[in-house]
Amino acid sequence: MSARVRLGVNIDHVATVRNARGGIHPDPVRAAEMALKAGADGITAHLREDRRHITDPDIEHLTALCRTAGKPLNLEMAVTDEMLAIALRHAPHAVCLVPERREEITTEGGLDVARLQGRVAPVVQQLSGAGSRVSLFIEPAESQVRAAHALGAAVVEFHTGRYCHVQRDEALAEMERLKAAASLAHGLGLEVHAGHGLDYGSARAVVAAIPEVVELNIGHFLIGEAIFTGLESAIATMADAIRQGERDRT
Ligand code: PXP
Repeated sequence: MSARVRLGVNIDHVATVRNARGGIHPDPVRAAEMALKAGADGITAHLREDRRHITDPDIEHLTALCRTAGKPLNLEMAVTDEMLAIALRHAPHAVCLVPERREEITTEGGLDVARLQGRVAPVVQQLSGAGSRVSLFIEPAESQVRAAHALGAAVVEFHTGRYCHVQRDEALAEMERLKAAASLAHGLGLEVHAGHGLDYGSARAVVAAIPEVVELNIGHFLIGEAIFTGLESAIATMADAIRQGERDRT
């Protein structure tokens, strides 16, 4: 398990800033192009039901950009008929199914695939049939991992928000949960990704502690950091943190 860990850059919050003024600047597609030039391994974008940041034309342009660049686009979306139709139309490299509540500020927890198996199963099937790799954004819990496996998903992305937001002993306990869940998922043949709330330090720690992780998806911290250091520098520093985490494994 010494594969190089990929960095997926989530550019949602470039669109958040653009939409604050209702215009066309800053353009998340330009940010995606810069991110790829700066070393991002792929682009992640969440088309929310309320279109608060990424819009339908953004997805169209991001699909075209990633195809031209030969890099993966990871479309995050809720399990709804509308989103399924959009994903089937674009057939991105990957689709990550996430929970979505309109009132939430960000994706607050994992998708409860253990409870929602009946609803999620046909969506996983159709997306996989259309050639997209389906990832399920879940909590690091045995029941969720087993359900994801039963659903036939290719990938699980573990929600690291709790690990990133709690302190000391709680963070250690959460890391143990992440490690156990990643080991179980890997043993079942699922590819393991992680994301939410990660910064330079927590990304390095997650990579170091969980050798099963092969991809991180990171947005808010990178876009925030870009204000101070520029997007290219933020992405290069994150890539260095990930490389450090890989070295810490040995
Ligand atoms: N992965 C998933 C599935 C997400 O929903 C998000 C947030 O949109 C992220 C990763 C990135 O989280 P953050 O913006 O906190 O880095």
